[in-house]
Amino acid sequence: KIIILDFGSQYTQLIARRVRELNVYCEIYPFNHVPALDDSVKGIILSGSPASVRQDDAPQIDFSLFHTKYPVLGVCYGAQYLAQNSGGEVTPSTIREYGRANLTYVNDTNLLLNKIPADSLVWMSHGDTISRIPDEFEIIASTDTVLVAAFQIKGSQTYGIQFHPEVTHSTDGKQLLENFLIGICHCTQDWNSESFIDTTIQDLKTKLGNDKVILGLSGGVDSSVAAVLLHKAIGANLHCIFVDNGLLRKNEFEQVLDSYQHMGLNVRGINARELFVGQLTGVKDPEKKRKIIGKAFIEVFDQAAHEVQDVKWLGQGTIYPDVIESLSVNGPSATIKSHHNVGGLPDFMKLKVVEPLNTLFKDEVRRVGKALGLDPALLGRHPFPGPGLAIRIIGEITPERIAILQEADAIYINILKSTGWYDKVWQAGAIFLPVQSVGVMGDERTYEHVICLRAVGSMDGMTADWSHIPYEILGKISNEIINNVKGINRVVYDISSKPPATIEWE
Ligand code: XMP
Repeated sequence: KIIILDFGSQYTQLIARRVRELNVYCEIYPFNHVPALDDSVKGIILSGSPASVRQDDAPQIDFSLFHTKYPVLGVCYGAQYLAQNSGGEVTPSTIREYGRANLTYVNDTNLLLNKIPADSLVWMSHGDTISRIPDEFEIIASTDTVLVAAFQIKGSQTYGIQFHPEVTHSTDGKQLLENFLIGICHCTQDWNSESFIDTTIQDLKTKLGNDKVILGLSGGVDSSVAAVLLHKAIGANLHCIFVDNGLLRKNEFEQVLDSYQHMGLNVRGINARELFVGQLTGVKDPEKKRKIIGKAFIEVFDQAAHEVQDVKWLGQGTIYPDVIESLSVNGPSATIKSHHNVGGLPDFMKLKVVEPLNTLFKDEVRRVGKALGLDPALLGRHPFPGPGLAIRIIGEITPERIAILQEADAIYINILKSTGWYDKVWQAGAIFLPVQSVGVMGDERTYEHVICLRAVGSMDGMTADWSHIPYEILGKISNEIINNVKGINRVVYDISSKPPATIEWE
C-alpha cells in the first residue's frame, strides 16, 4: 500500500482517489500521526497544505522515519518542505502561480516523467516557490515561471513536484502518478472491488467468529452494502433493523423491506410511525424536529437491539470520508465529536463497532455494491436525509401534510424516472410550503398550499447546482400534482444553487 501524509490540503482526498483508480490501495494519515511503517508500505506521498513552510508554526514531520527507506513523492507543500529541510530555500512567489501552466522542460529519461510530453499542461496552486535547491537535487522539469517544477534528490527515490498531478486539469497527472506507483514504488495493481470483497469477508469472519451483530438499515447505499458484506461473512448472526418513522417516501418502507428480504438479509421491519409522527405533530423548528427524530430513533433501535440475545457488535455503514474527517489535521468536526461523548449512551452504543466500509469512498461503495449483485435501483437511489420528509415540510408537521407531500413527491419522482431524469440528477424531492394562495378550479375559488420541486446536480452534496429540467417535463409534473393531490393548487420550481442556498429547505 501507499501512505499519504496529509498536511491539510483540500486535494489530499483527491490524491487518494487517483491512486485507487490505478488499482493501488492507499491510506491517508495526518502528518502528525505517521502510522507504523512496515513491509506492506511501498511508498509515501506528502500532500500539499494551506500553510507555508516559512511560517513559524508550519507543519513539521520527522523525515528520518521514511527518508531513504521508501520512495517519497512530495506534492506542492510536500515538495517545498523537502527542499527547505535539505538546505534549499523557499520564498514567496513574485507572481501569482494559480491555474494552468505548461512545462517547458522535461527530463523524460527520469522514471517519474516517463511518457510525459515536454509541453504537458499542469495545474499550479501555490504562493511560495522553491528559489534555491541544494547540490544533491536535480531539476527534472520546469515551466516558464517556475524553474523547480519537479526535482529528484540524486541517487535516491525522493521526488518533489510543485504542481498538482491529482487534479484533472493536469493532463498527464495520472501518468505521473502511475510512474511513481508502478515504475518507482513497484506496487501491484491488484486492488479492486472483487479483491476488496474477498479480503473483507475473510477479515470479518476472523474478527467476528460466532458473535452476533446488529445493524440499522436506512434504505441507503452505505448501510445496505455494509449489511450484505456482513451477511456474507456471518449469515444469520447479522440482525438488521429497519425502522419506519412515518417520514419516508410513499410506499418506501414496504418496497425497501421487500428488497432486503429478497437479498436474504435477516431483517426486522419496525413500524414506529405513530411514535415519530405523534412527537412531531405541531413542531415547527427544524433543529427541534431533528432532535426529536434522533432521540426517537435511538429509543426504538435500543429496544429492538435488546431483543437480540447476546449481541456483541454494532455494525455501521461508516465510509472513508467520515473517518478521514475525524482524524483530519483540522480535527474532528463538532458532530463527529458528539459520538465520542460516552456519558449516558444507550446500551447498543456501548457495543464494539464493526465498519466494513470504513476504507472506501462513496463511488467505491457503489462499485462494491454492484459487484455484490445489489439491486441497481437501490444502488442508484438519491440521497435522502435521515429526518426524511420532516425537514421537507416547512413549518408545522401534521399527518395531513405528510400525506399530501408523499403523494406529490411520488408523482414528481415517477415522472423523473419515466423521462430518464432521475439518473441525471444527484438528488430530487418535493417540499411542502405552508403558504396558501388563491386559485380557481372549475367555478370554485380555492385557497390551498404550494408544492416546491427541488432537483440538483452535485458531486458530494457540498456544492450543488439546480438541474435544468425541461419546461415540458416540469409542466407535466405540475399538472399531475395539481390535478391529483387535494390541498395543492400551485407548484413552483426552485432555481437556487448551493451556495448560497442549501439543498434542503430546512
Ligand atoms: P444541505 O441541505 O445541507 O444538504 O445542502 C446536503 C445533503 O445532506 C442531506 N441532509 C441531511 N442528511 N440528516 C441527514 O442524514 C440531516 O439532518 C440532513 N440535512 C441535510 C441533504 O439531503 C443533502 O443530500
